Amino acid sequence: MNTDFCQEHKPVLLSEVIAFLNPGPGKRYIDATVGGGGHTCAILSRGGEVLGIDQDPYSIETAQRRLISCPGVFASRYRLVLANFSKIAQIAQEFGPPFVDGILFDLGFASFQIDDPSRGLSFLKDGPLDMRLDPSLGVTASDLVNSLPEKELARLFWEYGDEPNSRAIAKRIIAQRAKKPFSTTGELAEAVGGKHQRIHPATKVFQALRIAVNSEFENLKKGLGDARELLKPGGRIAVITFHSGEDRIVKETFKSWEKQGLVRIVTKKVVVPEEKEVEENPRARSGKLRVIEKVTLTASSRTRSGNYKDRFRVRHGMTLNNDQEPICKV
Ligand SMILES: C[S@@+](CC[C@H](N)C(=O)[O-])C[C@H]1O[C@@H](n2cnc3c(N)ncnc32)[C@H](O)[C@@H]1O
Repeated sequence: MNTDFCQEHKPVLLSEVIAFLNPGPGKRYIDATVGGGGHTCAILSRGGEVLGIDQDPYSIETAQRRLISCPGVFASRYRLVLANFSKIAQIAQEFGPPFVDGILFDLGFASFQIDDPSRGLSFLKDGPLDMRLDPSLGVTASDLVNSLPEKELARLFWEYGDEPNSRAIAKRIIAQRAKKPFSTTGELAEAVGGKHQRIHPATKVFQALRIAVNSEFENLKKGLGDARELLKPGGRIAVITFHSGEDRIVKETFKSWEKQGLVRIVTKKVVVPEEKEVEENPRARSGKLRVIEKVTLTASSRTRSGNYKDRFRVRHGMTLNNDQEPICKV
């Protein structure tokens, strides 16, 4: 089937994700970051079923519009849910399917989110200093910038942004906000200052604030842990990261699972986009893909600890009858 229409939103590492997840008729997936629906569209067009999750109502709307116009994609094979993927276990329980063949996390933000100045994610376009991907969250970037003590700000820029000038930047912010609190992205970018080299000087500070505002690391750890429990034996999790902090979390989590004999790391070397993809979509340049596969239980381990459905029931207090293999009900 021709899936060129799936390229419209330029999903990053699309062919690699599809090769690793290998969707097909009757196979079930969770796209934990549905965004513009690009990856979901490709999975559906190959006959898979998808439960798509996103915390941003605008992403859900965009994905919905995209999926309606995807030829060969039927509404009965997907469902979109507005939620944070840290609740992936409850969402799967409520909307099904609780056991899946694959789960995708394509982290960060979509191009339509950063391109919209009203979201306050970009230092290139002036807008309110907001940065919430979920507009119902209580704390914005301006709240943090205008209230955190100097040391806390410096720590945040260092830990979440690897910003080498974190202390000097925090000092400048404190001096500036004593005169006038920050309310726009332009004001913050100006206060960060610095010479424009390979990357814009405000890149790391904006990244750090976005991570903090959206609790990205906490959500990733929780979401990944719960996602593993949702996999059928042989099922796969694919994660695309865009900066070193989140890639470190994914790499270390996968390594520790492999050591415990729970999964097999499929991507022994991290997968990065080919030059051609980066030329066509510069945002793909920092993308990194890691994939694991849940190990198939041996007969003896099944007897020792019950099967995967039993263990999921116990952990999540679910009541499924024995034959039930829930499907994506739409
Ligand atoms: C890079 S985009 C995904 C693009 C998508 N794969 C596509 O092909 O169009 C990331 C999306 O993940 C969403 N997101 C980020 N963190 C999330 C979280 N913790 N829970 C739910 N959605 C999240 C963002 O709102 C954004 O829409």
